[in-house]
Amino acid sequence: MFKDVNILLFFLRCHLLGIAILLSFQVKGQSKLSIPIYDKFGIDSLFSIEDKVNALVDMMTLEEKIGQMTQVRHFDDITDGDIDKKFIGSVIHTQGPSPGEGAAGWQAKFRILQNQALSTRLGIPLMFAVDAIHGQNTYNGATIFPHNIGMGATHNPSVVEAAAAITATEVQATGFNWTFSPCIAIPYNEKWGRVYEAYSESTDLTCELVKASVRGHQGDLSKNNTVVATAKHFIGDGSTDYGREGGFTSLNMKEVSERLLPPYRDAVNEKIGAIMVSFNSLSGTAMHAHKELIMDTLKNAMGFDGMVVTDWKGYSRFGKNDIINAGVDVVMAVDGDLDIFQKELKVAVIRQEVSEERVDDAVKRILRQKFRLGLFENPFPDSSLVAHIGSQDHRDIARQAVRESLVLLKHENNVLPIKKETKKIVVVGEHADNAGLQSGGWTVAWQGVQENYSGATTILDGIKAKAKGEVIYDINAHEIHTDADVVIIVVGETPYAEFMGDVGEGRGAPKLTLSSKHQKYIDTYKNNNAKIITILISGRPLVTTKQINQSDAFIAAWLPGSEGDGIAEVLFGEYNFTGKLPHSWPKSVDCFKDKFGPNFWDDSIKPLFEFGFRLKY
Ligand code: BGC
Repeated sequence: MFKDVNILLFFLRCHLLGIAILLSFQVKGQSKLSIPIYDKFGIDSLFSIEDKVNALVDMMTLEEKIGQMTQVRHFDDITDGDIDKKFIGSVIHTQGPSPGEGAAGWQAKFRILQNQALSTRLGIPLMFAVDAIHGQNTYNGATIFPHNIGMGATHNPSVVEAAAAITATEVQATGFNWTFSPCIAIPYNEKWGRVYEAYSESTDLTCELVKASVRGHQGDLSKNNTVVATAKHFIGDGSTDYGREGGFTSLNMKEVSERLLPPYRDAVNEKIGAIMVSFNSLSGTAMHAHKELIMDTLKNAMGFDGMVVTDWKGYSRFGKNDIINAGVDVVMAVDGDLDIFQKELKVAVIRQEVSEERVDDAVKRILRQKFRLGLFENPFPDSSLVAHIGSQDHRDIARQAVRESLVLLKHENNVLPIKKETKKIVVVGEHADNAGLQSGGWTVAWQGVQENYSGATTILDGIKAKAKGEVIYDINAHEIHTDADVVIIVVGETPYAEFMGDVGEGRGAPKLTLSSKHQKYIDTYKNNNAKIITILISGRPLVTTKQINQSDAFIAAWLPGSEGDGIAEVLFGEYNFTGKLPHSWPKSVDCFKDKFGPNFWDDSIKPLFEFGFRLKY
């Protein structure tokens, strides 16, 4: 490999002399720590990532190291000059002001920030992170896939992998290189407001799909259209008592190990780059500070070599430096945490309350991902990717995912497939013609939107495109078309995200049953002896025993995302149903009385439909 022994010797000298030689080659404004040297002598490829990481950490001051561990928003948390003065390591975008006009504008904004990072002494590039959890859902006009519960219903790792790869491309196209996805919770209480973010109540199915998701997102990480993925929220997020977001998980370690850890093990084996710790506590300890699970289990026993990142404002909420000692590497220092974190960690290191080795370990994990991403060579987003956002081939895969996610729970009287020649089809319900309502939370905005958004089609659009007869939209079941050949009633939940979707005392508005308004749509047409096909749009199984009985056909459509017209392809017989339940389906609200919820795992409560149930027509 070393063609010339002199080059080898020179290179070794560079490595040993470290700062002096390397810095002398660094040109201000150019990104590359040592790339000029590598380039000049053509020995870049001879250096392993681990060697580069170690060399770089050896050169860093404590402030620079703490900076790498810091993640901020591009607004609010920082003022001009903070990126370089505080040696920030990564930037997050969630809710909040748009970074710019169109995807090119987003890229331009992140280029400015990147240049600030590159202008620092060591020129370590930033990572840009985003909650792209079902497509690049923070960008209006991106391809939006069904939420993970729908992807779980497909039981199809290939479509999950393809969706993740497309998401990665659209994430990069908007200027990011890191996504906070997939959520690999195993939800076992539908009262939890984040059930839809996870694939399934089944550990085995979640394992299969997380592997596909990591492969799709990360692929060959050094390419310009792949991103670092994040498995979240470690661990027990979906298993809290009463399904409370950030509550207490009373599972014992054996249950945690058998039911919740396997998907993390698979994600680690697939070389996932990041894992986010959870808001909940377990065995009396906040997960952010749970050394036994983070340091001992995840890092040491499972061999995770990526970054452990906090959740929102996790530093000040969960014990400050205790969380660093427990194994957290990146701190989401938002909402006032930036200076507190940087100052208090520095003091703790000086006082030896946190060892410098722990800090070095954190920084190495961060740099490892930056090198794997190829950021030192290529710190900027690729402008040619912008053209791929929301492209037809991306949307075609999302439409396939929609079709495969539909679960037929009841079918009688041959109402399906609907003949295209049917004379009169009546469509009821505001969810039938509203892309925001059909997409759920984390779509365009954190809590979702309740109107159409760019590039999306609705369920009604699809029906109108396929039907050759008359299609009437009776949005609120006010007109009552007694002559309808078939009535398609679309009902369900309104968008919510995180704790806003929790059901229960002191929590948000949602219920696990249909609203009386939506019940009335079904009653109205049932009283007129119509043939009813009910489509349920929801982020979790709802108690719908009565409505299932009232309908000739009943379809669980989850939260399909931007390609709502894909549903019509199955309704009109172009494709049959293939989706299978990713969760057991509850029979009555009594199932939810216990603090553990309808724990179908132990067969103590019989569901209306078992996990895996499906019909075809
Ligand atoms: C959520 C995470 C999310 C983070 C950043 C938190 O409130 O729990 O899932 O990644 O915010 O937006």
